[in-house]
Amino acid sequence: MNAKLALKQLTELLDPGDEAVTTLANASAFLNELLEDVNWVGFYLLKGETLYLGPFQGKPACTNIEAGKGVCGTAIRENRTLCVDNVHLFSGHIACDGASNSEIVIVLHGEHGRQLGVLDVDSPLFSRFSAQDEIFLVQAAEIISRAIAQKL
Ligand code: SME
Repeated sequence: MNAKLALKQLTELLDPGDEAVTTLANASAFLNELLEDVNWVGFYLLKGETLYLGPFQGKPACTNIEAGKGVCGTAIRENRTLCVDNVHLFSGHIACDGASNSEIVIVLHGEHGRQLGVLDVDSPLFSRFSAQDEIFLVQAAEIISRAIAQKL
């Protein structure tokens, strides 16, 4: 994968005039096409203390996650990226697709650090996400956050 090219393509794909749901739908489809060995790519949006399921690619998933619960809710509570090499060893992991073995969750931020939600990517492989993948996905999440921040 050429990360620089992929980030350029993502930027071009996201139209600042679009609704947030539109942007997130195409962003999840783009990342799902781009990344190898992933079985779920999508977004949860934060409202109060709850993350609600947003646009995604993959199997149907749990619709809401409280802050502090699961990998997604823990990433929100700790306000940081969580890269989990083996989800079965993560206490409180929420299994939406039994095939998932590793997972990365990146918090989406708006202006002044306001939390918008998370980007969640799951893989059937253990330790699927390298440090390089994390850097790429954090940059992708920043592009996506900028495109939706004023609309949420
Ligand atoms: N595994 C996540 C839940 C969301 S699904 O993976 C799509 C978690 O533990 O927060």
